[in-house]
Amino acid sequence: MKGIILAGGRGSRLFPVTSVVSKQLLPVYDKPMVYYPLSVLILAGIKEILLISTPKDITKYEELLGNGNKWGIEIKYKAQKEPKGIAEAFILGKNFIGKDSVCLILGDNIFYGIDFSKQLEEVVNRTPYENKATIFGYKVKDPNRYGVIEFDSNGDALSIEEKPKIPKSDKAVVGLYFYPNEVVEIAKTIKPSNRGELEITAINQYFLKNKKLKVETLGREFTWLDTGTHESLLKASQFIETIEKRQGLKVGCLEEVSFRKGYITLNKLLENAEKLNGTSYGEYLLELYLNNKTS
Ligand code: G1P
Repeated sequence: MKGIILAGGRGSRLFPVTSVVSKQLLPVYDKPMVYYPLSVLILAGIKEILLISTPKDITKYEELLGNGNKWGIEIKYKAQKEPKGIAEAFILGKNFIGKDSVCLILGDNIFYGIDFSKQLEEVVNRTPYENKATIFGYKVKDPNRYGVIEFDSNGDALSIEEKPKIPKSDKAVVGLYFYPNEVVEIAKTIKPSNRGELEITAINQYFLKNKKLKVETLGREFTWLDTGTHESLLKASQFIETIEKRQGLKVGCLEEVSFRKGYITLNKLLENAEKLNGTSYGEYLLELYLNNKTS
């Protein structure tokens, strides 16, 4: 399975903060925002990743993340000329996706949960042979800001609407989507919405209508945060700080995740740590190295 991170958009809701810096490069506590979705893809076992951003910002991402070698993965880049909507990712990523299934993650979504990687690996494994898409619903207080899923009494999805004025449930669609290869063709057929965008919700509606959509619910033990407003961005930083300081473990630490996945060796971990020498992030990596060296 291939992975796509969408880190585009004008970020206009966060102006002036994002007037010259791409939103997904902003810090969420101690690392750039894009580290978090990238760590989710690595946790899911996805090693070939395409990052899509604006023509103006794409080189910044390349500078930050490189070819992925330091985490034992492969990262490629593609510019989205205009913000034409999330679903355009599959059109821009057509050659990259090739004949594979694909996972799309939004660059400004933060996920934190126990056993999440196990759940993700299952979806990654089943998607190509079941030929079905998987999306996730999460209870929120303000569903009208998101895609909203309506369920019947058996818990099966009935409808999905994008930012409805009167939401039919309190379950928002999170920014993490798994599709069989067919999505590339479907993306070409959908029409722009009233706000002029190729909506990811239109793709999900297609899979739902054709009985090829699985909806999994992320429960209250799970944390899903978005960073669309100044307040939610600050809250996300505070959340990560609280967890990291309490446990002494980092969230979204790419070197740690890829080391635990077996994508990089202990020596590579040390090499990464040394490059960040003198920073708290580097010290954390060094400690991880020393703990694993002696054990
Ligand atoms: C997008 C999707 C929406 C989804 C949300 C998750 O919204 O269109 O369906 O619930 O991401 O973050 P947008 O980022 O365009 O507001």
